[in-house]
Amino acid sequence: MFRHLLSPTRIGRLELANRVAMAPMGVEIVEGDGKVREPVVRYYEERARGGVGLLITENTSACYPRGANSAHELGVSDDAFIPGLTSLTEAVHRTDSKIAIQLAHHGKVGRLDTLQGREILMPSIPRGHQGPRGPLDLSAEEMGLMARAAGGGPPKIREATGEDLEQLADDFASAAARAQTAGFDAVEIHGAHGYIFSEFLSPAWNFRSDDYGGGVENRARLLCEVLRACKLRTGGDFPIWCRIDAVEFSTQDGIDFEDTQRVAELLVEAGADALSVSAYANPLGAGFTEAPLVHAEGGFIDFAAGIKRRVDVPVIAAGRIEPRVGDDMIRDGRADVIAMGRKLLADPELVAKLVDGRPEDVRPCIYCYVCVAQPFFDRTVRCSVNPVAAREAELAERLRTRADSAKKVLVVGGGPAGMEAARVAALRGHDVALFEKSAQLGGSLRFAALSYEPNEHLLRWLETQVRKLPIALHLERTATPEAIREFAPDVVIAAVGALREPSDLPGADKPHVVDGDDLRAMLSGEGASRNGPSLPIFGKLAVAAGRLMGVTGDPAKLRRASKLYMPVGKRVVVIGGGLVGTELAEFFVERKRSVVVVHDGPIFAAEMAHPRRWRVLHELREAGARLVAEAQIEAIGDTAVRVRTTEGTQEVPADTVILATGLVANPHAIETIRSAGVPVVAVGDGNGVGYIEGAIQQGFEAALAL
Ligand SMILES: Cc1cc2nc3c(=O)[nH]c(=O)nc-3n(C[C@H](O)[C@H](O)[C@H](O)COP(=O)(O)O)c2cc1C
Ligand code: SF4
Repeated sequence: MFRHLLSPTRIGRLELANRVAMAPMGVEIVEGDGKVREPVVRYYEERARGGVGLLITENTSACYPRGANSAHELGVSDDAFIPGLTSLTEAVHRTDSKIAIQLAHHGKVGRLDTLQGREILMPSIPRGHQGPRGPLDLSAEEMGLMARAAGGGPPKIREATGEDLEQLADDFASAAARAQTAGFDAVEIHGAHGYIFSEFLSPAWNFRSDDYGGGVENRARLLCEVLRACKLRTGGDFPIWCRIDAVEFSTQDGIDFEDTQRVAELLVEAGADALSVSAYANPLGAGFTEAPLVHAEGGFIDFAAGIKRRVDVPVIAAGRIEPRVGDDMIRDGRADVIAMGRKLLADPELVAKLVDGRPEDVRPCIYCYVCVAQPFFDRTVRCSVNPVAAREAELAERLRTRADSAKKVLVVGGGPAGMEAARVAALRGHDVALFEKSAQLGGSLRFAALSYEPNEHLLRWLETQVRKLPIALHLERTATPEAIREFAPDVVIAAVGALREPSDLPGADKPHVVDGDDLRAMLSGEGASRNGPSLPIFGKLAVAAGRLMGVTGDPAKLRRASKLYMPVGKRVVVIGGGLVGTELAEFFVERKRSVVVVHDGPIFAAEMAHPRRWRVLHELREAGARLVAEAQIEAIGDTAVRVRTTEGTQEVPADTVILATGLVANPHAIETIRSAGVPVVAVGDGNGVGYIEGAIQQGFEAALAL
């Protein structure tokens, strides 16, 4: 399994134990002075111990603080950075992993320059374009945070002079030499993502008439010179390569692939030992999820393969590449090394688990974009599914250490919070039982898996862990106070899930009106629904159809089957444009329904991390869905919903109405558990709706604290 991906290789003189690289990720763990301290070391060390062949550091400022994106970026612009960096390479070298440093200058995105009152460096003064198109879909708070992180005002731009360019080459060469002194195995020069070298490479940003502007050879000159300077200063055979953008998506006159293939040849002539292939697009709005944080699986595979055909040095591919796909790419000669970013935030032990033949144990990334949303606000990265990410120094060892005294722990509820709590408690040596009142594990995650496939991977993973670990699993077992007392736990972790308040909208009881519980009932094949046992006709039909097709309880089958048949009319109105409403809207749009989402607030999907929000809303709009903001529902009629906005009242035709509102905490259920008289810790949506991230986080923390 994964024979090709796990096979050794080399980049120049650098020998790698396998072909998985950790893609560079600016995680902003650094305290604010660019220096490596223990939390940074522990973050990388964890991935090295997890078997990654090559770690590529986050973008590290070659000229820190000049050209840095944040004070929380690593720096290598002075010898004072060397001791910290050395402690990092030493920790990595205690394993079989190798570590390259990514050297960067952020050019137009050098937020720290603006924050500290310097001019930002660019190839040319921009010519009034590249702004976000369409609605920004950001809350006022998010816009405020972004503006503050970016310095609060418009940047002052300086067109780079010849002296600036010489200085840049010298800074990078010195930085590369320092990295070598600090024990790094290689250097990656960041020539991508709209930063300084990418701006020089792009005709959309470079309007120079000197030797550094115009044709592709001229636009590539700066990066080639910087590379040569780094090679020269580090002695020639020290491995150095560049990361480049294959294309600049949706940008008039942006980087095109033909030019990039030529740039690749020029870089190899200049001494590049490898090439890392990424891509770029407008970083504000859906473009960001086109590149570099590509949402499409394997979105850049063809680019890597296209570069590989033109050069004879190793090619590093990136962009949501599954291990299986990466293995095939290497087998077929379409790439040499597979860089994974988010997957290694989600599970630092990914490689070790593949080596052990346990791919089912790899904690999946759910592509929720919570991690990468943080740097927009100049905050440390965090991961929805891995609470340890970027907190390794504080948490990793604790998680590995058995608790001082083993407690008898009862987890009530088998949703994401309950499963995570049970998992962590069992890992730490507690005696764990889990009561779930339905016949299946999953809770709200099973529902979330219906509309968004990556959630299903998380569901499967949690379920697998709960079943593999020594956890006494009691399905169809309700945790009444008597049952709890009889079980006599030392502590109960109450992960009861949210409550759906019945809607008081006029017409909400009509048969063509469906809420989340109805959908969940349909999924689980179990009857429970709002207002008691009776499902509306939709639910009954769906449950019957699901049973007939044998798909109830299996989100993947249900997703597929529902593309062929679903008792939902052609025109769907979704009431509530939060996370659940927008994901459901996507689900119905994919099933060729005409969808209108009516939302009482100004921002749709506010609970989603904004990059994922950008993607979902873009896809909804592209598919023709109508998003009606700041709207009140006056009544649900038999064939239409009466909606009031500032522009007046309108009748929105509807064959089916979906209520995606009313999800609230469930204090009553928690109180009932408390009445058993044992200590109770409440977690997850029942304790306050926090969706997957909140559930996992709280389940984890509660179990770790035992
Ligand atoms: C939190 C985060 C920070 C990132 N920072 C960088 C960076 O510093 N330098 C860089 O070249 N790419 C950066 N990227 C892009 C990744 O290197 C990678 O190309 C991208 O995430 C796609 O790979 P993936 O689908 O495996 O995550 C970042 C990605 C994430 C998620
Ligand atoms: S925060 Fe979300 S997108 Fe980022 S690594 Fe974790 S699961 Fe993946």
